[in-house]
Amino acid sequence: MEKLVITGGYPLQGKVRVAGAKNAVLPLMAATLMLTGETVLEEVPALEDVDTMVQVLAYLGIEARSDVPGQLCLKPAAEGVVAAPYELVRRMRASFLVLGPLLACRGRAEIPLPGGCAIGTRPVDLHLKGMQALGAEVVLNQGTISARAGRLKGCHIYLDFPSVGATENILMAATLAEGETVIENAAVEPEVVDLANFLSGAGAKIKGAGTSIVRVKGVKELRGTRHSIIPDRIEAGTFMVAAAITGGSVTVENVVYEHLKPVVAKLMEMGCSVSVLESGDALRVDAPSGLKAVDIKTMPYPGFPTDMQSPFLALATQTQGTSVVTETVFENRFLLVPELKRLGANVRTEGRTAVIEGKTPLTGAKVKAPDLRGGAALILAALVAQDETEVHNLYHVKRGYENLEEKLAGLGARVRLVVDN
Ligand code: UD1
Repeated sequence: MEKLVITGGYPLQGKVRVAGAKNAVLPLMAATLMLTGETVLEEVPALEDVDTMVQVLAYLGIEARSDVPGQLCLKPAAEGVVAAPYELVRRMRASFLVLGPLLACRGRAEIPLPGGCAIGTRPVDLHLKGMQALGAEVVLNQGTISARAGRLKGCHIYLDFPSVGATENILMAATLAEGETVIENAAVEPEVVDLANFLSGAGAKIKGAGTSIVRVKGVKELRGTRHSIIPDRIEAGTFMVAAAITGGSVTVENVVYEHLKPVVAKLMEMGCSVSVLESGDALRVDAPSGLKAVDIKTMPYPGFPTDMQSPFLALATQTQGTSVVTETVFENRFLLVPELKRLGANVRTEGRTAVIEGKTPLTGAKVKAPDLRGGAALILAALVAQDETEVHNLYHVKRGYENLEEKLAGLGARVRLVVDN
C-alpha cells in the first residue's frame, strides 16, 4: 500500500504541465470497440483508470500498444466477446461505457452493474433507458445487465438529468444506429464534446455536441482515427488550488481557459490573481496574503464542477470567514470531512451542505483518502498543515492524477511516496 508523506508550509512556485483528461480518454477508449482499423490517441494520461480500461478492452478483443509515452494505439484483434468481467467493472464505473459500443457493433452486451460507489448510489437507469429507446432489450440477471438488439434504431431521447456517462453511452450507440437520434437535455461537458469530435473524426455524423440537444445521423461504419485528448480541467484546477492554499504562484500549462472559468471565477472571488499567458494555453495563479471565504454550489457544466468541490472545501479551511459549499450532483461527496477534521479543520455538514469556518491552522496527522477527489483535497490540505501528514489509501488518487507527487515536488512541495509492506 502506498502513502504520501507531506511536510506542509512551503508556498508552491513554478510551472506544472497538466496531462490529458481522464474523463475524456476513458469514453474514447470504449468507443474504439466500434472502429475498424487502428486508432492512435495522443496526450493519454498515465493513470490507473486508463490501465483498467486497457484491461477491459483487452478482454473484449481490443489490442493496446504504447510505443511512446502519452500515446496509445488501439486496434481490434477479436470480435466475439460481449461480456465485461466483474472484477474490472467493479474497480471502475467508467467500464460501463462499453455498453453502448458493444450493443451498437456486436448486438449484445453483458455488463455487471457497476454498483454503488462511495460518492453516491450512482444508478445507470438513464444509460439503460437510452439503450431501450434505441431498440435494445435490456434485462437485469443476477447483478448483470444483459442487453441485445439487432441494428439499433435512431430515436428521440430526453434525459431526466444531463448525465455525462449516459450522454456518452447513448451518443456512441447512436453513431451506428439506423436513422437519426436526438438526445435532449444532453450533458454539455467538454469531455462529451471531445468524444463527439473523436467520433466525427472516425466518420460519425454528429451535430450539437456541447449544447443540450445533440443530433446523430447513424452511419454504417466508423474507421480508426488519430486524436489528441483535451487537457484535464480537474487536474489543472487542483494545481490552481495548490497555489492558492499555499500562498504560492504557479503557472499551469496545457489548459483550456474556457473549461476552467467556474474555477477561475471562484479563485478570483477569494482574492487570487489569475491571468492567461500569451500562449493562451497556460494560466498563472498568484495567491494573495489572505483569502476570502466564498459560497459554492456544484452544477453540471458550465457550472462549478462537482469534481472540484473537495479541493475547494480544503481551500475554504484557509479563508477568512465562513464558506458554504452545496453539492447538488452527487449525494455523498463529503466523505473527506472527518479526515479534514483530523487535520484541525472546522467543518460541519448537513445533508448536501458543508459549512466551513476559516481560517483554521492545520496540523499534520494520518488521514485516509476516501475517494479520488477527496484524496486530492487531503493532499492539498497537507501542503499547509504544520509538520507531517500521511495520506493513506493513495490508490484512489492514483486513479486520476498522473505523477502527482513528482509534479508537486517540482513546485517545491516537501512530499515523498512511501510503500508500506
Ligand atoms: C462523470 C465523471 C465524474 C464526474 C461526473 C459529473 C467520468 C468517467 N466521470 O461521472 O468524474 O464527477 O461525470 O460531472 O467521466 N445518474 C442517474 N442515473 C444515471 C446516471 C447518472 O441518476 O443513469 C446521476 C448520478 O447518480 C449522479 C448524477 O446523475 O448523481 C451525475 O452523474 P453522471 O453525470 O452520470 O456522472 P458520471 O458519468 O458517472
